[in-house]
Amino acid sequence: MTSRRDFFKKASAFGVLSTISPVFGEELEQERLITTDLIEKASRKIAHLSPEEAAKDEDFWYWVQKAFVQSPNFINLENGYCSPQPLETMNALFKNIQLMNELPSFYMRRNQNPDREEVKKQLAKLAGVSSEEIMITRNTTEALETIIFGLQTLKEGDEVIMTNQDYGSMLEAFYLRARRYGSKNVIISLPLHPKSNKEIVDCYEKAITPRTKVILVTHMINLTGQILPVREIAEMAHSKGIEIISDSAHAFAHIDFKIPDLQCDYFGTSLHKWLSTPLGAGMMYIKKDKIKNIWGLYGETGFADDDIRKFERIGTHPCWTNLTISNAIRFHHAIGAKRKEARLRYLKNYWAEKLKNNPKILINVPLEAERSCGLGNVAVIGKTPTQLADILYDKYRIFTVGIETEAVNGIRVTPHLYTTLEELDAFVKAMEEIAKT
Ligand SMILES: Cc1ncc(COP(=O)(O)O)c(C=O)c1O
Repeated sequence: MTSRRDFFKKASAFGVLSTISPVFGEELEQERLITTDLIEKASRKIAHLSPEEAAKDEDFWYWVQKAFVQSPNFINLENGYCSPQPLETMNALFKNIQLMNELPSFYMRRNQNPDREEVKKQLAKLAGVSSEEIMITRNTTEALETIIFGLQTLKEGDEVIMTNQDYGSMLEAFYLRARRYGSKNVIISLPLHPKSNKEIVDCYEKAITPRTKVILVTHMINLTGQILPVREIAEMAHSKGIEIISDSAHAFAHIDFKIPDLQCDYFGTSLHKWLSTPLGAGMMYIKKDKIKNIWGLYGETGFADDDIRKFERIGTHPCWTNLTISNAIRFHHAIGAKRKEARLRYLKNYWAEKLKNNPKILINVPLEAERSCGLGNVAVIGKTPTQLADILYDKYRIFTVGIETEAVNGIRVTPHLYTTLEELDAFVKAMEEIAKT
């Protein structure tokens, strides 16, 4: 924990105190509200550094850490499920709730649609696509299941390729679709430590038959953190007339990319993961000329078949969450997408590099920069993942999650921007002690 004196010492050393207004001075004293403006100012001071150099500038990350308020009672290394919001974003959410509570139906009737369109424009810009190709959803599940259940091109007997490392809900959706409409799921395995992109692309290519219509690709595998070469898989698939669904739940606003880089046809993500929005925000993307191929889950015939708004008749919902996406986008830009990616990768490498040579420890995530970022997976030989996660929490108050699957066994370790190196040192020490037992 940083004492108040340390806090002010760091503030003046980094030159941020001079930029603080009197009101903000009071807030600083409470050691609480680090605004997006302040992060922007701090970012400008390190603009001359490469993202990899900036990733190691602890003075800068100190400010980012302070923008979040987290429980001091344990070390949270399970930020893969969902992200906390920076305090400023959470305050914006409260204001938006207040606003809509003061003028509920008035807001819904007059402002809801134009406001949503404005947020969609900002999101579309961040994703590098047109706002006519995206929909704000509640999460990846809603985005991808809209696509999976809506695919009109998938007929009885047609095949879909997926892997035993894809996310359970997407596999379940395809199982249900297969039961209802007779499509066939072809489940393949992928290596935990591939030597090249080609090795991965080959795994998909070998499973293709004349009946293959769709490939589901998990952009960043949630079990291990491995990043898959979506673009290369898409290029191979498209050359055979096969469509690609990218499950980018963990990749968006975590690694720096634009959706067109992936060359995918369909895409879903959760904004409450790495964009740090309030819970219940996601994004669906469908390439403009493919929108007509997807049936809506909810009735809406007022828009043309190729109009993304045909999916948006979802009923009354907490649109304060949608509105607050703008604040999260500002925070993301204030840090800088490349800098954020480099920091998350640095944090994963920080613990993984210290543990990787321990003969009792297995690193289940490839460490090459293009193959992973902030998420990782690690095992201790002789302990089940659940035992390991329990010991870490019960004895050391370090929270992770045990992953026990056919494809991988280990604990998932996911630091966040607010994670300190001291916390990772505590994790490394705990793992070394456990490995000795
Ligand atoms: C790869 C992957 N896809 C989909 C999801 C579902 O995300 P959500 O629960 O936000 O819909 C997750 C959640 O962790 C995930 O890791």
